[in-house]
Amino acid sequence: MKNNSVKDLLLNTKTNSIVTVNGWVRTFRANRFIALNDGSSINNIQCVIDFESFDEMILKKINTGTSLKITGSLVESQGSGQKFEIIVSDLEILGDCDSEKFPIQPKKHSFEFLRENAHLRTRTSTFSAVMRLRSSLSFAVHNYFNSNGFYYVHTPIITSSDAEGAGEQFRVTTLDPKNPPLDDKNEVDYSKDFFGKETSLTVSGQLEAESYAMSLGKVYTFGPTFRAENSNTSRHLSEFWMIEPEVAFMDLDGNMDLAENFLKYLLNYIIENNTSDLEFLEERLINEDKTKPQNLRNEMSLIEKIKFVINNDFKRITYTEAVEILKGCKPNKKKKFKYLIENWGADLQSEHERYLVEKHFKCPVIIYDYPANIKAFYMKLNEDKKTVKAMDILFPGIGEIVGGSQREERLDVLNNKMKDIGVNPEELWWYTDLRKFGTAKHSGFGLGFERLIMFVTGMSNIRDVIPFPRTPQNAEF
Ligand code: 4AD
Repeated sequence: MKNNSVKDLLLNTKTNSIVTVNGWVRTFRANRFIALNDGSSINNIQCVIDFESFDEMILKKINTGTSLKITGSLVESQGSGQKFEIIVSDLEILGDCDSEKFPIQPKKHSFEFLRENAHLRTRTSTFSAVMRLRSSLSFAVHNYFNSNGFYYVHTPIITSSDAEGAGEQFRVTTLDPKNPPLDDKNEVDYSKDFFGKETSLTVSGQLEAESYAMSLGKVYTFGPTFRAENSNTSRHLSEFWMIEPEVAFMDLDGNMDLAENFLKYLLNYIIENNTSDLEFLEERLINEDKTKPQNLRNEMSLIEKIKFVINNDFKRITYTEAVEILKGCKPNKKKKFKYLIENWGADLQSEHERYLVEKHFKCPVIIYDYPANIKAFYMKLNEDKKTVKAMDILFPGIGEIVGGSQREERLDVLNNKMKDIGVNPEELWWYTDLRKFGTAKHSGFGLGFERLIMFVTGMSNIRDVIPFPRTPQNAEF
């Protein structure tokens, strides 16, 4: 007989049929009621046992975590809390679970504890909901681009260029660390390395995506990116997933419109397709809020917050306007910021971004036209020669979620900018070629996938929205 998923069974309208379902026991009450979950739904299916019909030895093996195959008749439930239940006629233990040792008990666990058990944490309702949302959002990303004429490009993971010019890369080498070959200056001779040159894991697929945009027109990459920055914060991962569209003949305004439209599409998609997981996570946050003092509670529920972003225009301001607001704001004047904003040119820290989004504008904000010297070399220089056509999108509770720009398409300006920051244009010869052979204005951005998932799930630590997080001093699993 075909196996049914819990999700399908709970949607079923045909009762009294004989069904078979596999899953893991969430709870077993009164030697009679099994709450079974197979990952297909936030909800469990209740399976009712007549204990007199089953061997006591078998019943003893049913613990939280045990995997079971259950066959029985699907009926309307007598009890409250669920519409349908299964009256069990046959039960097979697929895998025992030692209840003493199983870390995931039917009680509240801290997220720290569950991180240490990341291989089992999706057996909990919260993590299964988060990861189903992650999967759904990935699908929505491809759906959006596919229906808007974009091509999906698989940009390389091993690279010999530093796209962001920030030098925060993980080296990729097959040289023996204890005995590397040396050149005549007594330095490591990477010409003897696997690729014949120094290589690392990519920090961004942008440069390669630009090459494809300059032929296929509208492209995007969606893959893992790696940063060796020593940022031990709740918003940084050493390995994270980035979505990077790149579009030929598009300027910065078009780039901002695309990013806003894309984000709203993704949010709308999960509102329409992931209702039960969102409602579960919303409830979780409401309960968590009850344990906090009034002033730290969320003003909006999770779903209200998502709908608010969908239904309101993002506020667009220049960096110069942002600095004016920050210079005059209370926390700056009262020296409450860790980094005070005194002069034009200061890099904005997350405390400033969050002030603008959460206190000043109370909606998503796009800041554009940043000082050239705090942004990457590939961004287009404005006529004022001081600012570049960069844009960052800031979200409530998250801070920066998108970073992008119009790219510098003029060869001479690009060459100068590279030299200024110590990048040898010859090393990026193929990138500068794009400016020699039919150059055109073009733009793109990078959306940090995990930061988006944090926003839609209300999870406050980025380590809890990726299956197996990689952070400084941590690559378990
Ligand atoms: O602003 P970033 O560094 O932009 C780029 O890499 C560009 N090459 C993108 C482009 O124009 N194609 O990173 C983009 C986004 C950030 O806004 C943030 O959401 C996320 O990537 N991000 C991180 N997410 C998790 N952990 C980290 N360490 C991150 N660093 C950046």
